[in-house]
Amino acid sequence: MQAIIDEIAQKMAASPDKGKVASYIPQLARVDPNQFAISVALPNGETYSAGCAQTSFSIQSISKVFTLTLALGKLGEHIWTRVGREPSGDPFNSIVQLEHEHGKPRNPFINAGAIAIADTIIQSSQSEEALAEIVQFMRFLADDDSIAIDYKVARSEVETGNRNASLAYFMASFGHFNNPVDAVLRTYFHHCSIAMTTQQLAKAGLFLANDGINPATGYAIVTPQRAKRINALMLTCGHYDGSGEFAFRVGLPGKSGVGGGILAIAPGKASIAVWSPGLDVIGNSKLGTEALELFANKTGWSVFGS
Ligand code: DON
Repeated sequence: MQAIIDEIAQKMAASPDKGKVASYIPQLARVDPNQFAISVALPNGETYSAGCAQTSFSIQSISKVFTLTLALGKLGEHIWTRVGREPSGDPFNSIVQLEHEHGKPRNPFINAGAIAIADTIIQSSQSEEALAEIVQFMRFLADDDSIAIDYKVARSEVETGNRNASLAYFMASFGHFNNPVDAVLRTYFHHCSIAMTTQQLAKAGLFLANDGINPATGYAIVTPQRAKRINALMLTCGHYDGSGEFAFRVGLPGKSGVGGGILAIAPGKASIAVWSPGLDVIGNSKLGTEALELFANKTGWSVFGS
């Protein structure tokens, strides 16, 4: 495993086109694009890393996997009255389907869907409590108390978040929200701004590769059926309008973030986190996707066969 990921890291370092860092969140535009990291966590407790796997980055939309998991734990199947389970085929911040579909987002991973999920996590309008719970959940999953929100990134998102605010107010206009829009947005922006290393992220995702059980702690995070379903959503919706292409090239459930991270799950085998800040035109990590494609080819771990 170490030889495989060392070779991938070397190839990525030599790649001439590293994509473009996100610029619509100013704080993310400051990140050096010449960085790459990969970590692989195995159910037996071993973790392998190459590149800058100790550098924290903004996990952004990857946090949506974990807020979905939390919301399922709190509300169970009831969350499907708030969000759907279909790929959108549209960009992550699109508003077009929302009007046709009466303010119910297509899935929990597009921005509108994740904002709706944030609303379900908040109890009695307290975004601080919801955020503390989300951060605590990440620490628990990664078995690492150093995980925290990057408040500079969060402020940057709040200051430039007009599109997300539009999505939220539009949904609220259908009477769908339980909490004030500003509390929901605050929760959403801050959970996107959690900073983690690939090593922490690979460990946090391991329950999805292990029938819902975190092998490091032995805790059952979700049932095997729920782990399977979260993986299904990651495969079909985790890369927005690039989900088909990601399935075609990599063949693993995956969730991208505009900070350049991707969490990929090889069910029964491994949780893999990659990070490279440069993005493709859709907004998914360019080298991260290339690295996972190489990884899936070398290991034969695509869910569609070797
Ligand atoms: O709301 C946003 O636009 C960001 N906080 C998250 C978007 C994101 O990560 C899209 N993923 N590739």
